[in-house]
Amino acid sequence: MNAARPARLDQLPEWHALAKHREDFGGTHLRTLFADDAQRPERYGLQVGDLHLDFSKQLITDETLRLLGELAGGTSVAALRDAMFRGEKINITEDRAVLHTALRAPVSSEITVDGENVVRDVHAVLGKMALFASRVRDGEWTGHTGRRIRNIVNIGIGGSDLGPKMAYEALRPYTKRDMDFRFVSNVDGADLHEAVRDLDPAETLFIVASKTFTTIETITNATAAREWLLAGLGGAQEAVARHFVAVSTNAGKVSEFGIDTENMFEFWDWVGGRYSYDSAIGLSLMVAIGADHFSEMLSGFRLVDEHFRTAPFEANAPMLMGLLGIWYGNFFDAQTHAVLPYSHYFSQFTAYLQQLDMESDGKSTDRGGRPVGWQTGPVVWGTPGTNGQHAYYQLLHQGTKMIPADLIGFARPAPGLGGLAAQHDLLMANLFAQGQALAFGKTEEEVRAEGVPEAQVPHRTFPGNRPTTTILAEELSPSVLGQLVALYEHKVFVQGAVWDIDSFDQWGVELGKVLAKRLEPALTDGADVEGLDSSTAGLVARYRRLRGR
Ligand code: F6P
Repeated sequence: MNAARPARLDQLPEWHALAKHREDFGGTHLRTLFADDAQRPERYGLQVGDLHLDFSKQLITDETLRLLGELAGGTSVAALRDAMFRGEKINITEDRAVLHTALRAPVSSEITVDGENVVRDVHAVLGKMALFASRVRDGEWTGHTGRRIRNIVNIGIGGSDLGPKMAYEALRPYTKRDMDFRFVSNVDGADLHEAVRDLDPAETLFIVASKTFTTIETITNATAAREWLLAGLGGAQEAVARHFVAVSTNAGKVSEFGIDTENMFEFWDWVGGRYSYDSAIGLSLMVAIGADHFSEMLSGFRLVDEHFRTAPFEANAPMLMGLLGIWYGNFFDAQTHAVLPYSHYFSQFTAYLQQLDMESDGKSTDRGGRPVGWQTGPVVWGTPGTNGQHAYYQLLHQGTKMIPADLIGFARPAPGLGGLAAQHDLLMANLFAQGQALAFGKTEEEVRAEGVPEAQVPHRTFPGNRPTTTILAEELSPSVLGQLVALYEHKVFVQGAVWDIDSFDQWGVELGKVLAKRLEPALTDGADVEGLDSSTAGLVARYRRLRGR
């Protein structure tokens, strides 16, 4: 990106105008905003593809949106977005293009990186994945002993685990139910142990997913899985080729591990790990749901990519979501953001978003290398409703912290629930009720009118004015999943661009990895670690004593 560097964010007149607007906004209550404007749901509602977004329960007026739009206009967000779509190297600290959008670009399009049309490569790999997926699903790809593959174990971590796992759970009704899919990530041996303990190696295929193929957790687990397989199949080395495939950008390391590069599915350094599950990293998902559903999911992504690229600010959902995050994080001191899906199949959605958002925007150095002078990425958290309601929603309703939240739900129950589909209205009634309670609360007068004893009135009053966005779609289909993920990917992009940080590197994960590697010999053999602090040294010594070493 060669665009002239704009002034620092907090020096922009648009920033100061928002700060002033925040002061004027004060404690303006959603009750008042709704009383003053019967049209809020229409005014602040947006339809993007299959997603309806209701922003009316946000602490906003037309003036707020105008000022947020001006802030966006005063930063390089639009220029950076266009540069991303063109394949420019906007990941400045790693000198890489950021092209997850090319993973779902139509085959007819052309996006060049270093003189290569990457779209052609993307579709070549998708074709290879589809062939492999159908061979496994049809039983044509057999294990070493000729038995059909019934179990797929994906070994990967971070983006090489969270995305496929989340999408597999989300699309379970679309999966091949006579196969078993498991995901192993943690270097804790218990993870692999529990994943394979009841599996037959002759019917098990491992997908080793790692962009770098150097990640210690993945290589350790893959090595142990290979030992488990060989022990179960009588040590025949040639079995590995039938039971291990790899997804990586690193052919050298894949072949060093002993996996035939014929059985490697490629992706590229311009796909960030946390933006990768619609690349070959989604191979386990494709085996589970089939190539056609995978392709429907990609069209969902594409739809929102196009929306983000072309819609004007005031009708651009990722822009609005990103800027609302800035409104609360930078002007209301909100530290966290809750994502509360009302779907059991979305059990992993927030965990997936945690990496997407926090690894992307958890930065405190701006793109010019200076410390930022403003808050950046929020803590993202949440679990599916209604479970959270009986756990931590108390704090959302009556606690002292401001926690903006997204409530996500689907009009239709998932396919295949039979009689249990009848419970869906109750589930969704809870979603709508939470948005209502968080926004409007319950006043002292309303509590008193119920005959509540005076001493209890303050305890049973709900202040309300807690902002939420409700996202409603007809059903959780592969396409809708793609639309939702792309929505959040671009929201994270908008925030990073406005905060002037590089959302596409992750240097913050490096130090811990290096220190763990240095410490391991101290735990195992009592090796000396130079310059170890007294607390860590004491803990290592205690650990060794407890292990009887
Ligand atoms: O350590 C963080 C990280 O690099 C993530 O960004 C990435 O998704 C994960 O590790 C796994 O990396 P890989 O796919 O190279 O094994």
